[in-house]
Amino acid sequence: GPKNKYQGLHMVVTAGPTQEPLDPVRYFTNHSSGKMGFAIARAAAEQGADVTLVSGPVNLTPPPGVELIRVTTAEEMYRAVMDAYPKADLVIKAAAVADYRPATVHGQKMKKGGEMAIPLVRNPDILAELGKKKENQILVGFAAETENLQENATGKLDRKNLDMIVANDLTMAGAGFKADTNIVRLYFRDGTEKELPLMTKDEVARQILHEATQLLTKQ
Ligand code: C5P
Repeated sequence: GPKNKYQGLHMVVTAGPTQEPLDPVRYFTNHSSGKMGFAIARAAAEQGADVTLVSGPVNLTPPPGVELIRVTTAEEMYRAVMDAYPKADLVIKAAAVADYRPATVHGQKMKKGGEMAIPLVRNPDILAELGKKKENQILVGFAAETENLQENATGKLDRKNLDMIVANDLTMAGAGFKADTNIVRLYFRDGTEKELPLMTKDEVARQILHEATQLLTKQ
């Protein structure tokens, strides 16, 4: 595409997992590789957008021309995203944010004994908070699901006040966490949807950007 297609567009993209510490040696996390979010940030920057990429811990090379903010926990991601939000036209939340964190972060390594239960508390839902504060921004979320893809995805679209949600069926071969390909379905606020065939995450990224920026010009 043209190098200036997204010139003047301010974007915030999130990527990767978060890590929620339990003690100095242990943490809770998930299988997110960060590939989808990094692909979106790279594609947007290649086409002239001004991109802030807020990423949890991943093993990926930062895309050229992107402002990368590295975070560890959901709370750190929350603060970084909120700081960048006021100047954003478009936010794409591809991160797999931990829904819970240990209620207590122990200062010393926890010792083994008998059975143990670890109390967890809810993390802030970053996207839902963005949805509440939304002015003219276009908000795009992801929904990675193992069942009831459509209901779960459109439920999140409504609850979090999103403009578009990218739904991922994690049970399909070639879709989801570690793969370089993805199969996604896009759901829009107006009730329409669009199914994309199996494609590389780079191609999915370009499609998502195309659809999201269409929404910006429509409003
Ligand atoms: O975790 P859930 O399936 O609800 O995630 C849907 C969307 O909400 C994703 O785009 C994810 O990045 C975002 N999210 C978030 N903060 C959370 C949980 C999810 O921004 N604490």
